[in-house]
Amino acid sequence: MQIQTVYLNGQFMPIEEARIPVLDRGFIFGDGVYEVIPIYSGHPFRLRQHLGRLQNSLDAIKLANPMKLEQWVQLVRRMVKMHPWKDQAVYLQVTRGVAKRDHAFPKGVAPTVFVMSNPMAAPDRKLVSNGVACITATDNRWLRCDIKSTSLLGNVLMRQRAAEAGCIETIMFRDGFLSEASSSNVFVVHGKTISAPPNNHLVLPGTTNDVVMELARKARMPLELREVSEDAVRGADEIWLTSATKEVLAVSRLDGKPVGSGKPGPVFKRMHKLYQDYKRTVMRRG
Ligand code: PDD
Repeated sequence: MQIQTVYLNGQFMPIEEARIPVLDRGFIFGDGVYEVIPIYSGHPFRLRQHLGRLQNSLDAIKLANPMKLEQWVQLVRRMVKMHPWKDQAVYLQVTRGVAKRDHAFPKGVAPTVFVMSNPMAAPDRKLVSNGVACITATDNRWLRCDIKSTSLLGNVLMRQRAAEAGCIETIMFRDGFLSEASSSNVFVVHGKTISAPPNNHLVLPGTTNDVVMELARKARMPLELREVSEDAVRGADEIWLTSATKEVLAVSRLDGKPVGSGKPGPVFKRMHKLYQDYKRTVMRRG
């Protein structure tokens, strides 16, 4: 069996041997941030964008980045080389470190840095060709969803609701408008026009969502960043989910009702192909 090696505070070790003290603020308060970076054929996908977002999350929680950009790049590459899996998902997490329990930030404490990699499988072909089912709910999370924080209880509860309904995701509305899903961003399509909510404090600025928007612009597909009402979502011809691990998936059922024709639509099919082609270029280029 492959030994899974992880990085914890400057050292590499088998995952079974990695330990953090119980007073780590990540454990006690969820006081930390994270990233999930897809690796295709050994090549990190949109690495700089993920590390840029990590910096933004760290800035937002006022935690100094413990490593320089190039050190992160080297660490991710080293972690990938330690494992034989063709495609991997590298997870990295930084917490505010270990200190006596007190909500206010501790002084002079080193952050905890943890990195692991797991094998990653591309979304099942059946999910791509048939689409996936989602439910909806009112977004009851906090108002800083732009921070990729390890405090994920709101998202966990939403994702669990979906799991209990036999669905892949819960799509959320705040004040009658689309925000995102429990662990993905959401696009809707009306006719040929693709729409998505703008990046603000209510959604995570997705790296996959960025790729999709870049590809749409390059292919001159009509794209609008605007508030999307709940009615516009329910009446959409197509709904898509995007995330680093899901790539782009079509939602074929929402709250038990078919979306559009009930099958992945033509705009999705075009985007899915563009996305796969783009992935292949990245793999070739490295
Ligand atoms: N989640 N919105 C939320 C709430 C997310 O958790 C994610 C990703 C996204 C999509 O972001 P990206 O395209 O950069 O993956 C949007 C990751 C995959 C996770 O928590 O496992």
